[in-house]
Amino acid sequence: MDDVDTDEQLQLTPEHLAVRTLGPLTVPSPLDGGLLERGESMHYVGEHDRVLVDGTLGVATKRGVPVEELPTFEPGGPRRTLFFDPKKTKVGIVTCGGLCPGLNNVIRGLVGELAEHYGVHSVLGFRDGYLGLTPDGAEPLELTPESVRWINQQGGTVLGTSRGGQDPRVMVETLRLRHIDILFVIGGDGSLRGAQTIADEAQRRGLPIAVVGVPKTIDNDIPWIDRSFGFQTAFGRAAESIRAAATEARSHPGGVGLVKLMGRHSGFIAAYATLASDDVDLVLIPEVPMPLEGERGVLAHVERTLDRQGHALVVVAEGYGQDMFAGTEGGADPSGNAKLFDIGKKLRDELTSHLTATGTRFQLRYVDPGYAIRSVPANSHDSVYCTRLAQAAVHAAMAGRTATVAGRWHGRFVNLPIPLVTHSRNQVDPRGDLWLSVLEATGQPVHV
Ligand code: F6P
Repeated sequence: MDDVDTDEQLQLTPEHLAVRTLGPLTVPSPLDGGLLERGESMHYVGEHDRVLVDGTLGVATKRGVPVEELPTFEPGGPRRTLFFDPKKTKVGIVTCGGLCPGLNNVIRGLVGELAEHYGVHSVLGFRDGYLGLTPDGAEPLELTPESVRWINQQGGTVLGTSRGGQDPRVMVETLRLRHIDILFVIGGDGSLRGAQTIADEAQRRGLPIAVVGVPKTIDNDIPWIDRSFGFQTAFGRAAESIRAAATEARSHPGGVGLVKLMGRHSGFIAAYATLASDDVDLVLIPEVPMPLEGERGVLAHVERTLDRQGHALVVVAEGYGQDMFAGTEGGADPSGNAKLFDIGKKLRDELTSHLTATGTRFQLRYVDPGYAIRSVPANSHDSVYCTRLAQAAVHAAMAGRTATVAGRWHGRFVNLPIPLVTHSRNQVDPRGDLWLSVLEATGQPVHV
């Protein structure tokens, strides 16, 4: 996790962190005793312990409450008793929203954990996002450890995905008709909001269906989790595009590389890819409003950099500088995200006009890897994370947690209530240490 606002952190109360459960845990877990009898240690949090929210003495002290009243998360991990009887449990899985490296790893991890450790053998994969939970959707796929064995080697999702919500009444009816006890939703903020509506509708109808999310987005903009899966693979792939642009820029007199990366509201991909490649002279992200014009603006900085070192490299996140455009692009995507203007092309044109007008010798290479950064298979780090998140999600669901997301906080797996992770957005803090590192690496003018 990079930046959760301290004020937001201080306002957290135990109610915000309480995880909803379907009922008492009465079924002994079939997990091998060795998996259940871990001793508590620095590296293992037992099921009756809690994970502290505050990571610094300063914030914890500011609360002015006894230690036992500090806000805490429920730890993830296996429970000795369960809500669901594995022999009778039917599970559904759905992947929603934009692609993200690791979707197939999570599907595989869920199916493997359910079948091999809990003995749950009925798992349906709903097709094409929430559409698959309506009568208009394609027939679900039966998922078995054999059918998902190699899917982690492919990018994308074997289930298909789509943006946009569906009527929760219709989706819950589908779950009821198919006798689904647990639904895993692999999705980002919009999809998790959808998961919450499903959990609420099931509760309203008195149906004991657990809805558990696995937080997905290359943007890393889900708060209260260290990192969303797929982010690391995506910024690694983005760093390759930056290196390509850097090679182009360095190899031509007056070479200017301009790389546009995804990141609608949060500049994490741009910031991390920049730090990973360490070649960048200027990064522009939605959270830091840097003007084009002026001594400390974008154009002057690129001109100075060219003068000084003979080449320059700029990275821009797609959400930067949207206020420079007059009017609106119009409309929103089916997830409700406003359509963005193309800041990459605008910057390319502005740099070209400015450098031409100032008589600067330059050759501009524009690189937009677009969807290529998220359609790749998960790297090794994300693969591990996806498997572990999937295991944590299964443990939470079997213990009857609902309207819950499996996440990781300060390196420990935790169960978080969905409303906590959907009511705000994780963004790069212009005063935080990530942005400080970026400023140190690029030497760009400081704007907050
Ligand atoms: O939310 C993840 C993301 O990859 C964003 O970075 C990007 O703006 C968006 O999805 C694009 O998604 P699509 O074009 O598939 O709707």
